Amino acid sequence: MTSLEDFQRKDLKMVHGYPMIYSFANNWERIEEFHSKPDDIVIATYPKSGTTWVSEIVDMVLNNGDVEKCKRDFINVKVPMLEMAVPGIRTSGVEQLEKTPSPRVVKTHLPIDLLPKSFWENNCKMIYLARNAKDVAVSYYHFDLMNNLEPLPGTWGEYLERFVTGKVAYGPWFDHVKSWWKKKEEHPILFLYYEDMKENPKQEIKKIARFLEKNLNDEVLDKIVHHTSFEIMKDNPRVNYTHLPSSVMDHSKSPFMRKGTTGDWKNYFTVAQSEKFDTIYKKEMAGTILQFRTEI
Ligand code: A3P
Repeated sequence: MTSLEDFQRKDLKMVHGYPMIYSFANNWERIEEFHSKPDDIVIATYPKSGTTWVSEIVDMVLNNGDVEKCKRDFINVKVPMLEMAVPGIRTSGVEQLEKTPSPRVVKTHLPIDLLPKSFWENNCKMIYLARNAKDVAVSYYHFDLMNNLEPLPGTWGEYLERFVTGKVAYGPWFDHVKSWWKKKEEHPILFLYYEDMKENPKQEIKKIARFLEKNLNDEVLDKIVHHTSFEIMKDNPRVNYTHLPSSVMDHSKSPFMRKGTTGDWKNYFTVAQSEKFDTIYKKEMAGTILQFRTEI
């Protein structure tokens, strides 16, 4: 008999060279052999970059800003996570996607190398949302405190050390953002930044609408901006993940909708940690024109 305890707080498991959440790592053929459809829309992110936010935005854009329609189900059902699996306990991402009507919106954190080749072959549209590494590290640390499918993060200092060396689920942030950035030279990828979305959500939502060939008027765009603001989403039980049992996500440790800001890293990084991080960052990001803002 399988029980959730078999998957809780387990060490990460390597999948083709990338550390993966233990419960997701089994039966990886389901990912490799996944059949995409040409009208699938992929939302790809490194964890904690605002995936839930952009997922709700895409759903609203596709539904012309119809708030009632967007309440039809939980975010993880409307936008299934491709690699998610807790065998014997929950419907996997692949199973959920098989039940999802087209056009399907597919969420994934997979690095380029692990994304099923079918998505490339079908030339599926993809939206990549990137967030500055320091805020991602802080958000990921808190997520690992509350998400029982992840290994325990340890102290902030210990966690940060693992984050910069890529010993966290999905591997190094640096390689993830760099390779997705490069891939857009040869594939239809809309590359967005969390910080830009915070600063000017309407402008970024317009970009998404254009990319998805949706012509939305100002009133609809304003409605989407409002409905997908942090303040509204944090109290929306369809998107704030409070529907999951606390054995999976324990919001008393840290809420999923935590702060939703840029620059929270300043409350966690010591000066020494920040300087060390900046040195590693410079080395890892040398040779790319990709630029992030750590404050807005
Ligand atoms: P913080 O932990 O910094 O608050 P993901 O969905 O990829 O797991 O990312 C989660 C992060 O996005 C969390 O960051 C969460 O608060 C933030 N987030 C979720 N919805 C948001 C919104 N509508 N606006 C801004 N940030 C949002």
